Amino acid sequence: MKVQGKHYRPIWLDADGWRVRIIDQTRLPFAFEVTTLETSEDAARAIRDMLVRGAPLIGVTAAYGMALAMREDPGDAWLAEAHERLMRTRPTAINLRWALDDMRMRLRSLPPAERVDAAYARATEMADEDVEINHLIGRHGLALIEEAARAKEGPVNILTHCNAGWLATCDWGTATSPIYHAHDAGIPVHVWVDETRPRNQGGHLTAWELHNHGVPHTVVVDNAGGHLMQHGDVDLCFVGTDRVTATGDVCNKIGTYLKALAAKDNGVPFYVCLPSPTIDWTVNDGIAEIPIEERAATEVTHVTGLTDNGHLVQARVVSPGSRAANPAFDVTPGRLVSGLVTERGVTTASAAGLLELFPERAA
Ligand code: MRU
Repeated sequence: MKVQGKHYRPIWLDADGWRVRIIDQTRLPFAFEVTTLETSEDAARAIRDMLVRGAPLIGVTAAYGMALAMREDPGDAWLAEAHERLMRTRPTAINLRWALDDMRMRLRSLPPAERVDAAYARATEMADEDVEINHLIGRHGLALIEEAARAKEGPVNILTHCNAGWLATCDWGTATSPIYHAHDAGIPVHVWVDETRPRNQGGHLTAWELHNHGVPHTVVVDNAGGHLMQHGDVDLCFVGTDRVTATGDVCNKIGTYLKALAAKDNGVPFYVCLPSPTIDWTVNDGIAEIPIEERAATEVTHVTGLTDNGHLVQARVVSPGSRAANPAFDVTPGRLVSGLVTERGVTTASAAGLLELFPERAA
């Protein structure tokens, strides 16, 4: 997507062919800064400290982290160690495991002398595949927006939570891809952007993306969605996901479940957009089995913002002395989801629905 007229992806290879460049998402929307990853530890830190975030981008960054590790030492011991260290960075998005296992499997089968080139080639291929997948998700999701547009006058109002935009992937985004496709096709859309406390990925990142692309949008506090739905102000919900179980449960940013409940109560279609590497075929019960990241309490007790004279500040917003808890994700049971939008089409959030699209996964 474009930033100030120049096309960017959130991750790319430097002209030297080995350094990895990323947009530092902890600085957005206040500053647009590109930073360089030169070691596998740089890649691990970028994921852990959320310079990059969003399930598909976490996976691709880890894949490049393995490529950087192979430059450091292409031997078996370092291959195993790098896989383990990158795996420990964040627990919930399954794309991390998918990418790392894929890299390890391919690299192990090669002699060490061939591993660096193979690692870079596969990481770049994963990034390109992600772009293509998200483009297809956009085409399938566009049909849902077109249908909603035919049923009403005026813009289609879409609510989204967190950032499942191009910044969270290698381009297009998942939940935002249908929105960008609709906007580019001249279908009037308006997006309700949940601010997504505590880290404000909605207010900081999704709003920034939509503004750059000229998509009409309004940022709302996380608790506004139910009210908007009760008043007929939301036609569709589109969210992304960090892990979908084989039975269609959806794990996504904390608060997604409450939006799905409100959508169900108000008859608003609730769609989850995902690339196939986000499906964890080994898990059936999302609530019992998906590890939920618990992040620092300071993300709840403090907010980060820009003063009117341009200073970045952190301000306490919780009474001193109170404890804060910070579960970063929740699980929405498949029964609350109207459909899963994948690169292969739209299906029901159920084992049967997923197997219909991915028959090769049937035991
Ligand atoms: O904690 P984050 O910012 O990594 O969480 C991101 C999300 O929850 C996204 O909605 C999800 O990864 C889907 S990204 C296409």
